[in-house]
Amino acid sequence: MVEINVIHTMTRLICVSAGKGGTGKTTVTSNVGAALTQFGTDTIVLDANLTNPNLGFHLGIPLYPNTLHDVLKGEAHITEAMYIHNSGLRVVPAGLSIEDLVDTSPENLSDVLLDTIGEPDFVLVDSAAGLGNESINAIEASDETLIVTNPNLPAVTDALKTVNIAEEAGTDVTGVVLNRVNGHDSELGRDEVESMLGHPVIMEVPEHEKVQEALSVKKPVVHHEPDHHVSERFRAVAADIANVDYEPDIQEEGFISKLMNKLR
Ligand SMILES: Nc1ncnc2c1ncn2[C@@H]1O[C@H](COP(=O)(O)OP(=O)(O)OP(=O)(O)O)[C@@H](O)[C@H]1O
Ligand SMILES: [Mg+2]
Repeated sequence: MVEINVIHTMTRLICVSAGKGGTGKTTVTSNVGAALTQFGTDTIVLDANLTNPNLGFHLGIPLYPNTLHDVLKGEAHITEAMYIHNSGLRVVPAGLSIEDLVDTSPENLSDVLLDTIGEPDFVLVDSAAGLGNESINAIEASDETLIVTNPNLPAVTDALKTVNIAEEAGTDVTGVVLNRVNGHDSELGRDEVESMLGHPVIMEVPEHEKVQEALSVKKPVVHHEPDHHVSERFRAVAADIANVDYEPDIQEEGFISKLMNKLR
């Protein structure tokens, strides 16, 4: 399929953040991570949503003996908590039990991320909802923040706070993924989102049932339905980040094929 080899000399630590919950941070992390791997880069995705981790579900990662929680507690090295997905993407899951939270020091995230530098091309850090210490730590520990928002005022207002935190921390904003777009008149348009946030929208991703379907089979949609226009859009985000020349085929299906899909 897609095989473009990108040559990088530096590890880029990119926090995927939003402010608001449920905008699609984990979906973007898993799909963009998978797409970056398809482009031939060495990429790690890391679940820094310590209280409600679910990156492992999105990628079908089985329960794993060591997790990010053990690394943050100083009980394991990051390499011991790295799971290699069959696609080649490396995944650092977080612990799922309440006990995992005990004695975890989220402020160690920065040191943990520093331990990854030099080897991979990209580390995508899936962050928690809200703008508490957990998310702020993740933003501050990264070099850049990729903003994931939805086309409504509450989501974009929270995204703006995230942008401000990233900028105050002296880090870059990679750009914005405008996710779950339905195309309703009541939604904020791309231009409005760009002028509110002061950063370009890399790609609009429509709300599509294929994304939920992919989650139900524990795969990123770029693996589940690689040729689907939603997958093309996630791949286009990865191409933009990795500076790869890639022309996505983002033609949405027409009315008849939408109807056929519904009837199926
Ligand atoms: N483009 C999309 N189309 C349809 N469903 C989507 C899309 N993006 C995300 N979803 C769905 O929305 C739900 C929330 O997505 P996700 O878990 O990625 O959000 P999140 O921002 O990581 O949430 P949290 O703040 O809880 O960590 C999931 O069920 C996911 O499948
Ligand atoms: Mg999430």
